[in-house]
Amino acid sequence: MKIEIGGEKPENFVDRWPGEFKIFSHFEMALGIPHALFLITTLKENGKPNVCFQGWSSFYGDCGGYYVMTPLLVKSHTYQNILRDKVFCINFINASYYGPCYETIFKNNYEADEFEVGGFTQEPASQIAVPRIKEAFMSLECRHKSVNDLSGLGIQSLVIGEVLSAAVEEDYINGSEKKYGPEGFMYYGYALKDFASGDGGERKVATLNVRMKG
Ligand SMILES: Cc1cc2nc3c(=O)[nH]c(=O)nc-3n(C[C@H](O)[C@H](O)[C@H](O)COP(=O)(O)O)c2cc1C
Repeated sequence: MKIEIGGEKPENFVDRWPGEFKIFSHFEMALGIPHALFLITTLKENGKPNVCFQGWSSFYGDCGGYYVMTPLLVKSHTYQNILRDKVFCINFINASYYGPCYETIFKNNYEADEFEVGGFTQEPASQIAVPRIKEAFMSLECRHKSVNDLSGLGIQSLVIGEVLSAAVEEDYINGSEKKYGPEGFMYYGYALKDFASGDGGERKVATLNVRMKG
């Protein structure tokens, strides 16, 4: 039997922190679709580096270009930085850095150097004036292309960026062992523990385990 979930938030889904269901659709927790996590680096207007923990994104393109599609809170520093400077960097880092990544959410005021907050090392980018994260196994340097307010309510906006260049650690470039193992892409699941009570349980962070090779 399949549970049907409609566009209305179920009554048992109550905010666990103020505004949770303003920022998130109930579908997010009800479906729990996993997403690769990464850090977006930008520069604040005062020149201090900004680091933003990010998911809910996809990457694709054609012969005309390769693009990142990433939703950002309109009120976030990252969104404002991207609109102002038109450039940003995507940094994939392994799950052992989950704690430092999370720190950058809590200590992210205007004066903060968020590389220092997370204990990350700055590495110059090759094409844009935004630092990459040295500890990342893969970084994508991006140019802003467009934005699209997802719900029309001015809360989340889909940012599309064109990837200008990528830097990949040597031992991650061949094969899948590193990329799709414990030292590779980190995933996040927001699945509920108990749908009936709306209990969110714990955050789930995962890495991949290759099942088949063809
Ligand atoms: C696992 C995880 C994934 C996140 N993904 C996103 C996201 O996709 N979009 C977003 O706007 N915020 C996301 N956030 C929240 C931002 O990291 C957070 O709002 C951040 O502090 C914004 O920083 P800034 O104001 O310096 O840009 C995520 C947080 C966590 C813990």
